Amino acid sequence: MRSKKASIEAVRAAKRSAAQAALERICHDCRLGLGTGSTTNEFIALLPKVRERIKAVASSSQATTALLRDAGFEVSPLSQCGTLDLYVDGADETDDHRRLIKGGGGALTGEKILAASSRQFVCIVDESKRVKLLGNFPLPVEVIPMARSAVARKLAAMGGQPQYREGVITDYGNEILDVRNLRILNPEELETAINQIPGVVTVGLFARQRPQAVIVGTPQGAYTL
Ligand code: 5RP
Repeated sequence: MRSKKASIEAVRAAKRSAAQAALERICHDCRLGLGTGSTTNEFIALLPKVRERIKAVASSSQATTALLRDAGFEVSPLSQCGTLDLYVDGADETDDHRRLIKGGGGALTGEKILAASSRQFVCIVDESKRVKLLGNFPLPVEVIPMARSAVARKLAAMGGQPQYREGVITDYGNEILDVRNLRILNPEELETAINQIPGVVTVGLFARQRPQAVIVGTPQGAYTL
């Protein structure tokens, strides 16, 4: 049987190979947006290799901004970058149609804004993130604090089991509900329905706004959905 250390190394190698494949998408004078999480961090670790090709960098979270600054990049606010050429980010789940659940790290609002502000959104994942049906991973919903209970009741009426992510305040001062047991048969419809609930800031479904490519890394190499 494979040791725990060996399987952690294999997942890391898979994330790295997805990150390596995404690096090839960086054009000259690239205005680049970056998401959040361990897979994105693997991508950030490779960025110094292509530093001269990057014109501007925008980040979806404070955590990513700190990492980019440590790597010597100047991080500009999105409002100063204009439309981004490329946005690279991970995901918690992807189906075969490139519809995603994101927000495990709590940065879903910044991530959705950057994805919407980019010509190309490329998602990088390891194979464990591939699913037939979205929803095994609890669906994150960022809510304005005063609306948390009201939104939770609406989500429960939709068949979900919302749970308050205790102790987490987002970069925008909001709270997160993680919704279990939703059968996400129509992700586009559900994304719209949840967005309509007053008090919802962002739902972590990226279906209407899915990436143009999902790069799936394996320890042996990467392939694209
Ligand atoms: C953060 C996210 C991340 O992209 C997602 O949680 C995947 O993270 P990781 O690459 O660490 O598995 O959506 O809000």
